[in-house]
Amino acid sequence: MSAPRGQFSSNFGFLMAAAGSAVGLGNIWGFPTNVAANGGAAFVVVYLLLAFMLAYPVLMAELSIGRYARRNMVQALRGIATGPVSRGVGTIAGFGGILVASLILSFYAIVAGWMVAHLADPFANLFGASETAAWLTGDSTARNFTFTAIFSGLTMLIIASGVEKGIERWSTLLMPALIILLLMLIAYVLFQPGAMKGLEAYLIPDFSKLSPQLLLSAMGQAFFSLSLGVGTMLIYGSYLSKQESLPRLGALVTLIDVGIAFTAGLLILPAMYVAQEAGTQIYSEAGELIAGPGLILQVLPAMFETMGTSGHFVAIAFFALMVIASLTSSISMLEVPVAFTIENLGMKRRPATLMMGLVIFAISTVIIFNFEALFGLVISIATEYGQPLLGVVLCVFAGWIWNRDQLLMELKEGHPDIEQTVFWKIWPWYVRIACPLLILAAFAQTVL
Ligand code: PFF
Repeated sequence: MSAPRGQFSSNFGFLMAAAGSAVGLGNIWGFPTNVAANGGAAFVVVYLLLAFMLAYPVLMAELSIGRYARRNMVQALRGIATGPVSRGVGTIAGFGGILVASLILSFYAIVAGWMVAHLADPFANLFGASETAAWLTGDSTARNFTFTAIFSGLTMLIIASGVEKGIERWSTLLMPALIILLLMLIAYVLFQPGAMKGLEAYLIPDFSKLSPQLLLSAMGQAFFSLSLGVGTMLIYGSYLSKQESLPRLGALVTLIDVGIAFTAGLLILPAMYVAQEAGTQIYSEAGELIAGPGLILQVLPAMFETMGTSGHFVAIAFFALMVIASLTSSISMLEVPVAFTIENLGMKRRPATLMMGLVIFAISTVIIFNFEALFGLVISIATEYGQPLLGVVLCVFAGWIWNRDQLLMELKEGHPDIEQTVFWKIWPWYVRIACPLLILAAFAQTVL
């Protein structure tokens, strides 16, 4: 506990780390497929509204609580609690955050492992190792176990190096690489036959698809995409210097997250229709666009195959993009339990990382060996129930429990004229009343 706390060395470092956490499989896979399944641009419009009207305020709650408390979620919520009841709720929510972050990582590492295996596949093909290639892309328990282990190991290596030398250094390196790869892929795919049909499906709204279900999907997508509720943004905020303006940084993170999700749609949907043009089936028997694992693991690879040798390089670029996106997100999830172990149990960073990393890998292993029963269940518990409910608790802490003067003082750090801004006129009330009500209303729909 006596070790000095880590800190981001710069504004840019924080931005890349927080945007790295936000930008992940949720943006490049989840968002475009949600768009495809929910009426194209109609979903995009609803999503943009929710991202700024619901997710951004919750992100601000996490960032300001974290930077104020300079502690993990358990300690931070206990710290701003005002009595035994709020302290108890804060403790439960803090541990809930650690649990949900760990559960998300346990399934995320499996999916990211698929991406690593598919990244290795074109190399195996280029070297003529067709049996290895078949194993890499075949859906076996041994393959899943091996590549989840590799991906979890990479995540642990980065987290073991700490905030500045691990999280910040790798995020500032990988995020620009991600953007370059994404733009290169879009430039390539848009010139392939069929791409324009995909752009139409993406950008022309079908408002007849607007429904409560769509609202709910958009909210879940926004929460997952901005890594909310589980204390990742809170802990990243706790490593942020007091000289930065929180509302501005939070807005930038939201803009980057939304911007990359939107840009990824310009790749994925055209790519699907290019695949169709090349003879791959992109609609399921029920007439819906294929959206689940089949899209990334079958439809797109089938298209790469029709491109001959250059297809191998396109596949490498695509799966490198997916691995990078996954890694900058997975490190932020692992940091949640690791920070707790360091601060509350007094462990050093390396053993703490090893211990928590192995515990989470053990959970992934249980899921891998009981895939049918557990994979979907864990995703649903963590993202449909865990994240929104914890989001409500964070709003209640920021809006009702935290002393208003302290909150204002925290926001003034790095933004001295905050009281004159529209942000200060709206946000405190918004996070107090509108956010919890909106989340609960949407949540009630899921449960009913
Ligand atoms: N935001 C990540 C994505 O869109 O893929 C997922 C995520 C990261 C969720 C970190 C939760 C979290 F704590």
